[in-house]
Amino acid sequence: MSRSSQEIRLAERPQGRPSGRTWELATVDVPEPGAGEFIVQIEQISLDPAMRGWLNDVRSYVPPVGIGEVMRAYAGGRVIASNHADFAVGDAVRGLFGVREYAVSDGKGVDRLDLDVAPMATWLGALGMPGMTAYFGLTDVGRAQPGETVLVSAAAGAVGSVVAQLAKAKGCRVIGVAGGPDKVAWLRDLGLDDVIDRKEGDLLRQVRRAAPDGVDVYFDNVGGELLDAALANLARGARIAICGAISTYNDETLAEGPRRYMALLVFRASMQGFLVTDYLDRYPEGIEAISQLIGQRRLVATETVLEGGVAAFPDALLGLFDGVNTGKLLLKT
Ligand SMILES: NC(=O)c1ccc[n+]([C@@H]2O[C@H](COP(=O)([O-])OP(=O)(O)OC[C@H]3O[C@@H](n4cnc5c(N)ncnc54)[C@H](OP(=O)(O)O)[C@@H]3O)[C@@H](O)[C@H]2O)c1
Repeated sequence: MSRSSQEIRLAERPQGRPSGRTWELATVDVPEPGAGEFIVQIEQISLDPAMRGWLNDVRSYVPPVGIGEVMRAYAGGRVIASNHADFAVGDAVRGLFGVREYAVSDGKGVDRLDLDVAPMATWLGALGMPGMTAYFGLTDVGRAQPGETVLVSAAAGAVGSVVAQLAKAKGCRVIGVAGGPDKVAWLRDLGLDDVIDRKEGDLLRQVRRAAPDGVDVYFDNVGGELLDAALANLARGARIAICGAISTYNDETLAEGPRRYMALLVFRASMQGFLVTDYLDRYPEGIEAISQLIGQRRLVATETVLEGGVAAFPDALLGLFDGVNTGKLLLKT
Protein backbone atom coordinates (compact mmCIF):
# COMPACT_ATOMS: atom_id res chain seq x y z
CA MET A 1 0.00 0.00 0.00
CA SER A 2 1.49 3.39 -0.92
CA ARG A 3 1.69 5.96 1.84
CA SER A 4 3.05 9.46 2.12
CA SER A 5 4.80 10.90 5.16
CA GLN A 6 5.17 14.48 6.28
CA GLU A 7 8.55 15.43 7.71
CA ILE A 8 10.27 18.50 9.12
CA ARG A 9 13.68 19.36 7.70
CA LEU A 10 16.22 21.92 8.83
CA ALA A 11 16.11 24.72 6.24
CA GLU A 12 18.44 27.27 7.85
CA ARG A 13 20.50 27.42 11.05
CA PRO A 14 18.73 29.76 13.50
CA GLN A 15 20.35 32.77 15.10
CA GLY A 16 18.86 32.86 18.58
CA ARG A 17 15.29 31.62 18.85
CA PRO A 18 14.24 29.33 15.95
CA SER A 19 11.72 30.95 13.59
CA GLY A 20 9.51 29.91 10.68
CA ARG A 21 12.54 30.22 8.38
CA THR A 22 14.40 27.55 10.35
CA TRP A 23 12.20 24.73 9.09
CA GLU A 24 10.76 23.23 5.93
CA LEU A 25 7.73 20.90 5.85
CA ALA A 26 8.03 18.24 3.15
CA THR A 27 6.05 15.20 2.04
CA VAL A 28 7.74 12.01 0.84
CA ASP A 29 6.59 8.52 -0.18
CA VAL A 30 7.09 5.81 2.41
CA PRO A 31 9.08 2.95 0.85
CA GLU A 32 8.43 -0.75 1.47
CA PRO A 33 10.86 -2.09 4.12
CA GLY A 34 14.03 -3.68 2.71
CA ALA A 35 15.62 -6.86 4.06
CA GLY A 36 16.24 -6.47 7.81
CA GLU A 37 14.13 -3.29 7.96
CA PHE A 38 10.74 -2.29 9.32
CA ILE A 39 8.40 0.71 9.04
CA VAL A 40 7.24 2.60 12.11
CA GLN A 41 4.11 4.73 12.16
CA ILE A 42 5.08 7.42 14.62
CA GLU A 43 2.50 8.37 17.23
CA GLN A 44 4.35 10.72 19.59
CA ILE A 45 7.41 12.90 19.03
CA SER A 46 9.58 13.89 21.98
CA LEU A 47 10.39 17.60 22.28
CA ASP A 48 13.77 18.06 23.95
CA PRO A 49 15.78 21.19 24.80
CA ALA A 50 18.83 19.42 23.34
CA MET A 51 17.23 19.82 19.90
CA ARG A 52 18.20 23.49 19.98
CA GLY A 53 21.85 22.50 20.46
CA TRP A 54 21.67 20.00 17.59
CA LEU A 55 20.98 22.94 15.22
CA ASN A 56 24.31 24.66 15.92
CA ASP A 57 27.27 23.93 13.68
CA VAL A 58 29.70 23.39 16.54
CA ARG A 59 31.74 20.52 17.97
CA SER A 60 29.51 18.62 20.37
CA TYR A 61 28.62 15.11 21.57
CA VAL A 62 26.72 14.42 18.30
CA PRO A 63 27.16 16.02 14.85
CA PRO A 64 24.75 18.88 14.12
CA VAL A 65 21.63 18.18 12.04
CA GLY A 66 22.60 19.04 8.44
CA ILE A 67 20.78 21.58 6.33
CA GLY A 68 18.06 19.72 4.40
CA GLU A 69 18.12 16.77 6.79
CA VAL A 70 15.09 15.56 8.74
CA MET A 71 15.17 16.98 12.27
CA ARG A 72 16.58 14.46 14.76
CA ALA A 73 14.05 13.43 17.43
CA TYR A 74 13.21 10.66 19.81
CA ALA A 75 9.78 9.25 19.06
CA GLY A 76 7.46 6.37 19.79
CA GLY A 77 5.22 4.46 17.42
CA ARG A 78 4.00 1.12 16.07
CA VAL A 79 5.59 -1.24 13.58
CA ILE A 80 3.26 -1.45 10.57
CA ALA A 81 5.41 -3.53 8.17
CA SER A 82 8.48 -5.62 8.91
CA ASN A 83 11.22 -7.69 7.32
CA HIS A 84 13.16 -7.75 10.60
CA ALA A 85 13.43 -10.89 12.73
CA ASP A 86 13.14 -9.02 16.06
CA PHE A 87 10.35 -6.55 15.26
CA ALA A 88 6.84 -7.67 14.35
CA VAL A 89 3.85 -5.75 13.01
CA GLY A 90 1.99 -4.25 16.00
CA ASP A 91 5.09 -3.88 18.22
CA ALA A 92 5.26 -0.58 20.10
CA VAL A 93 8.76 0.89 19.77
CA ARG A 94 10.82 3.97 20.55
CA GLY A 95 13.98 5.28 18.91
CA LEU A 96 15.63 8.25 17.25
CA PHE A 97 13.12 8.23 14.39
CA GLY A 98 13.09 11.98 13.57
CA VAL A 99 10.28 14.50 13.14
CA ARG A 100 8.21 12.55 10.60
CA GLU A 101 5.05 10.47 10.37
CA TYR A 102 6.66 7.22 9.21
CA ALA A 103 10.24 6.02 9.68
CA VAL A 104 12.24 3.21 8.09
CA SER A 105 14.45 1.47 10.66
CA ASP A 106 16.99 -1.33 10.79
CA GLY A 107 16.37 -1.72 14.53
CA LYS A 108 19.62 -0.12 15.73
CA GLY A 109 18.98 1.84 18.92
CA VAL A 110 15.29 0.88 18.89
CA ASP A 111 13.57 -0.50 22.02
CA ARG A 112 10.37 -2.54 22.07
CA LEU A 113 7.96 -1.12 24.65
CA ASP A 114 5.78 -3.07 27.03
CA LEU A 115 2.60 -0.99 27.13
CA ASP A 116 1.27 -3.15 29.99
CA VAL A 117 4.00 -1.61 32.15
CA ALA A 118 3.36 1.99 31.10
CA PRO A 119 1.82 3.97 28.22
CA MET A 120 4.03 5.09 25.33
CA ALA A 121 4.14 8.68 26.64
CA THR A 122 5.71 7.49 29.89
CA TRP A 123 8.23 5.37 27.97
CA LEU A 124 9.30 8.66 26.32
CA GLY A 125 9.28 10.56 29.63
CA ALA A 126 9.80 9.19 33.14
CA LEU A 127 10.83 5.74 31.82
CA GLY A 128 12.65 7.21 28.83
CA MET A 129 15.68 9.39 28.23
CA PRO A 130 14.52 12.21 30.59
CA GLY A 131 13.80 9.80 33.45
CA MET A 132 17.19 8.13 32.99
CA THR A 133 18.83 11.57 33.02
CA ALA A 134 17.13 12.30 36.34
CA TYR A 135 18.06 8.95 37.88
CA PHE A 136 21.75 8.83 36.95
CA GLY A 137 22.27 12.57 37.41
CA LEU A 138 20.87 12.45 40.93
CA THR A 139 22.38 9.16 42.10
CA ASP A 140 25.74 9.01 40.29
CA VAL A 141 26.62 12.65 39.70
CA GLY A 142 24.79 14.44 42.54
CA ARG A 143 25.24 11.44 44.87
CA ALA A 144 22.23 12.62 46.90
CA GLN A 145 21.98 11.09 50.37
CA PRO A 146 19.00 10.87 52.75
CA GLY A 147 18.61 14.02 54.81
CA GLU A 148 20.49 16.21 52.34
CA THR A 149 19.02 19.34 50.76
CA VAL A 150 18.51 18.99 47.00
CA LEU A 151 17.75 22.02 44.83
CA VAL A 152 16.42 21.26 41.34
CA SER A 153 15.68 23.76 38.58
CA ALA A 154 13.02 23.35 35.85
CA ALA A 155 11.50 21.15 38.55
CA ALA A 156 8.11 20.88 36.85
CA GLY A 157 9.69 19.66 33.60
CA ALA A 158 10.45 16.19 32.24
CA VAL A 159 13.82 15.68 33.96
CA GLY A 160 13.22 17.97 36.94
CA SER A 161 9.91 16.44 38.04
CA VAL A 162 11.52 13.00 38.18
CA VAL A 163 14.60 14.35 39.99
CA ALA A 164 12.40 16.04 42.59
CA GLN A 165 10.32 12.91 43.25
CA LEU A 166 13.34 10.57 43.28
CA ALA A 167 15.04 12.84 45.79
CA LYS A 168 11.91 12.87 47.98
CA ALA A 169 11.76 9.07 47.80
CA LYS A 170 15.41 8.96 48.93
CA GLY A 171 14.52 11.02 52.02
CA CYS A 172 16.08 14.29 50.91
CA ARG A 173 14.73 17.75 51.62
CA VAL A 174 13.74 18.95 48.16
CA ILE A 175 13.45 22.50 46.87
CA GLY A 176 12.12 22.94 43.35
CA VAL A 177 12.34 25.97 41.07
CA ALA A 178 9.70 26.52 38.39
CA GLY A 179 8.04 29.32 36.42
CA GLY A 180 4.65 30.57 37.58
CA PRO A 181 2.06 29.88 40.29
CA ASP A 182 0.40 26.87 38.61
CA LYS A 183 3.65 24.92 38.43
CA VAL A 184 4.57 25.99 41.96
CA ALA A 185 1.21 24.63 43.22
CA TRP A 186 1.65 21.40 41.23
CA LEU A 187 5.08 20.81 42.77
CA ARG A 188 3.77 21.49 46.26
CA ASP A 189 1.08 18.86 45.61
CA LEU A 190 3.81 16.40 44.64
CA GLY A 191 5.20 16.84 48.16
CA LEU A 192 8.24 19.05 47.62
CA ASP A 193 9.40 20.76 50.81
CA ASP A 194 9.69 24.20 49.23
CA VAL A 195 9.14 25.69 45.78
CA ILE A 196 10.62 28.85 44.29
CA ASP A 197 8.88 30.76 41.50
CA ARG A 198 11.74 31.89 39.25
CA LYS A 199 9.49 34.55 37.73
CA GLU A 200 9.40 36.37 41.08
CA GLY A 201 13.11 37.17 40.68
CA ASP A 202 15.75 37.78 43.38
CA LEU A 203 16.79 34.14 43.07
CA LEU A 204 19.79 34.41 45.35
CA ARG A 205 17.61 35.48 48.27
CA GLN A 206 14.83 33.04 47.42
CA VAL A 207 17.32 30.13 47.51
CA ARG A 208 18.81 31.43 50.78
CA ARG A 209 15.37 31.58 52.37
CA ALA A 210 14.50 28.04 51.23
CA ALA A 211 17.90 26.54 52.13
CA PRO A 212 19.20 28.44 55.17
CA ASP A 213 21.75 25.67 55.89
CA GLY A 214 22.90 25.53 52.29
CA VAL A 215 22.30 23.26 49.29
CA ASP A 216 24.02 19.84 49.28
CA VAL A 217 23.05 18.91 45.71
CA TYR A 218 22.08 21.31 42.96
CA PHE A 219 20.63 19.54 39.92
CA ASP A 220 21.07 22.23 37.28
CA ASN A 221 18.76 22.18 34.26
CA VAL A 222 18.85 25.88 33.44
CA GLY A 223 22.28 27.52 34.07
CA GLY A 224 22.45 31.31 34.09
CA GLU A 225 21.33 33.36 37.08
CA LEU A 226 19.99 30.37 39.02
CA LEU A 227 23.36 28.61 38.85
CA ASP A 228 24.90 31.71 40.44
CA ALA A 229 22.17 31.73 43.10
CA ALA A 230 22.89 28.06 43.90
CA LEU A 231 26.66 28.67 44.04
CA ALA A 232 26.04 31.49 46.51
CA ASN A 233 24.15 29.09 48.80
CA LEU A 234 26.16 25.88 48.85
CA ALA A 235 26.69 23.64 51.85
CA ARG A 236 30.18 22.30 52.54
CA GLY A 237 31.01 19.38 50.21
CA ALA A 238 28.12 20.23 47.84
CA ARG A 239 27.81 18.61 44.41
CA ILE A 240 26.42 20.44 41.37
CA ALA A 241 25.22 18.13 38.58
CA ILE A 242 25.32 20.07 35.32
CA CYS A 243 22.49 18.52 33.33
CA GLY A 244 21.66 21.44 31.04
CA ALA A 245 21.41 25.20 30.71
CA ILE A 246 18.17 25.93 28.88
CA SER A 247 18.27 29.62 29.85
CA THR A 248 21.25 30.02 27.48
CA TYR A 249 20.28 27.81 24.51
CA ASN A 250 18.88 30.66 22.39
CA ASP A 251 21.65 33.11 23.34
CA GLU A 252 23.55 34.41 20.36
CA THR A 253 26.48 35.48 22.45
CA LEU A 254 28.18 33.18 24.92
CA ALA A 255 26.85 33.97 28.37
CA GLU A 256 29.34 35.21 30.94
CA GLY A 257 30.64 32.31 33.03
CA PRO A 258 29.30 31.55 36.52
CA ARG A 259 30.29 34.61 38.53
CA ARG A 260 30.40 32.81 41.86
CA TYR A 261 32.48 29.76 40.96
CA MET A 262 34.90 30.50 43.83
CA ALA A 263 32.16 29.08 46.07
CA LEU A 264 33.45 25.68 44.87
CA LEU A 265 36.71 26.42 46.66
CA VAL A 266 35.16 27.96 49.76
CA PHE A 267 32.70 25.09 50.28
CA ARG A 268 34.97 22.29 48.93
CA ALA A 269 32.26 21.67 46.37
CA SER A 270 32.32 20.12 42.91
CA MET A 271 30.51 20.73 39.65
CA GLN A 272 30.29 17.93 37.08
CA GLY A 273 28.59 17.71 33.72
CA PHE A 274 27.16 14.44 32.43
CA LEU A 275 25.41 12.93 29.42
CA VAL A 276 22.64 10.40 29.86
CA THR A 277 23.83 8.39 26.88
CA ASP A 278 26.94 7.43 28.86
CA TYR A 279 24.60 5.35 31.05
CA LEU A 280 22.87 3.41 28.24
CA ASP A 281 24.06 0.05 29.56
CA ARG A 282 22.55 0.86 32.98
CA TYR A 283 19.11 1.96 31.71
CA PRO A 284 17.48 -1.29 33.03
CA GLU A 285 18.52 -0.25 36.57
CA GLY A 286 16.98 3.22 36.15
CA ILE A 287 13.79 1.84 34.55
CA GLU A 288 13.40 -0.69 37.37
CA ALA A 289 13.86 1.97 40.08
CA ILE A 290 11.46 4.48 38.53
CA SER A 291 8.78 1.97 37.52
CA GLN A 292 8.80 0.57 41.07
CA LEU A 293 8.16 4.04 42.49
CA ILE A 294 5.40 4.63 39.92
CA GLY A 295 3.82 1.30 40.94
CA GLN A 296 4.00 2.31 44.61
CA ARG A 297 2.40 5.67 43.72
CA ARG A 298 5.43 7.48 45.09
CA LEU A 299 6.30 8.97 41.69
CA VAL A 300 3.85 10.52 39.25
CA ALA A 301 4.80 10.36 35.56
CA THR A 302 3.34 13.42 33.88
CA GLU A 303 3.24 14.46 30.24
CA THR A 304 1.92 17.45 28.29
CA VAL A 305 0.83 16.22 24.85
CA LEU A 306 0.41 18.82 22.09
CA GLU A 307 -1.83 18.26 19.07
CA GLY A 308 -1.26 19.39 15.50
CA GLY A 309 0.96 16.73 13.99
CA VAL A 310 4.37 17.08 12.41
CA ALA A 311 3.46 20.49 10.93
CA ALA A 312 3.09 21.87 14.47
CA PHE A 313 6.68 20.94 15.42
CA PRO A 314 8.22 24.44 15.00
CA ASP A 315 5.79 25.99 17.51
CA ALA A 316 5.81 22.94 19.77
CA LEU A 317 9.59 23.12 20.18
CA LEU A 318 9.36 26.76 21.26
CA GLY A 319 6.95 25.63 23.98
CA LEU A 320 9.95 24.31 25.94
CA PHE A 321 11.48 27.79 26.05
CA ASP A 322 8.14 29.34 26.95
CA GLY A 323 7.56 26.76 29.70
CA VAL A 324 4.21 25.50 28.36
CA ASN A 325 4.84 22.02 29.72
CA THR A 326 4.29 20.26 32.99
CA GLY A 327 6.28 17.02 32.84
CA LYS A 328 7.45 15.63 29.50
CA LEU A 329 6.50 17.64 26.39
CA LEU A 330 5.31 15.49 23.49
CA LEU A 331 3.77 16.15 20.08
CA LYS A 332 1.08 13.82 18.78
CA THR A 333 1.37 13.08 15.07
N1 LIG B 1 22.74 15.91 30.22
C1 LIG B 1 21.87 15.15 29.59
O1 LIG B 1 22.15 14.03 29.19
C2 LIG B 1 20.47 15.67 29.40
C3 LIG B 1 19.44 14.83 28.97
C4 LIG B 1 18.13 15.36 28.89
C5 LIG B 1 17.91 16.69 29.17
N2 LIG B 1 18.96 17.47 29.55
C6 LIG B 1 18.76 18.89 29.91
O2 LIG B 1 17.87 18.91 31.01
C7 LIG B 1 17.18 20.14 31.02
C8 LIG B 1 15.68 19.87 31.15
O3 LIG B 1 15.26 19.16 30.00
P1 LIG B 1 13.76 18.62 29.91
O4 LIG B 1 13.66 17.78 28.70
O5 LIG B 1 13.36 18.06 31.21
O6 LIG B 1 12.95 19.96 29.64
P2 LIG B 1 11.75 20.50 30.52
O7 LIG B 1 12.29 20.85 31.86
O8 LIG B 1 10.61 19.56 30.44
O9 LIG B 1 11.31 21.81 29.73
C9 LIG B 1 12.07 22.94 29.78
C10 LIG B 1 11.66 23.84 30.97
O10 LIG B 1 12.71 24.77 31.20
C11 LIG B 1 12.18 25.91 31.84
N3 LIG B 1 12.78 27.09 31.21
C12 LIG B 1 12.61 27.51 29.93
N4 LIG B 1 13.30 28.65 29.71
C13 LIG B 1 13.92 28.95 30.90
C14 LIG B 1 14.79 29.99 31.33
N5 LIG B 1 15.16 30.98 30.49
N6 LIG B 1 15.21 29.99 32.60
C15 LIG B 1 14.84 29.01 33.46
N7 LIG B 1 14.02 28.00 33.12
C16 LIG B 1 13.58 27.95 31.84
C17 LIG B 1 10.67 25.87 31.67
O11 LIG B 1 10.09 25.55 32.92
P3 LIG B 1 9.57 26.71 33.92
O12 LIG B 1 8.66 27.56 33.11
O13 LIG B 1 8.89 25.97 35.01
O14 LIG B 1 10.76 27.46 34.43
C18 LIG B 1 10.45 24.71 30.71
O15 LIG B 1 9.24 24.04 30.93
C19 LIG B 1 17.58 20.88 29.76
O16 LIG B 1 18.59 21.79 30.07
C20 LIG B 1 18.11 19.76 28.87
O17 LIG B 1 19.01 20.24 27.92
C21 LIG B 1 20.22 16.99 29.67
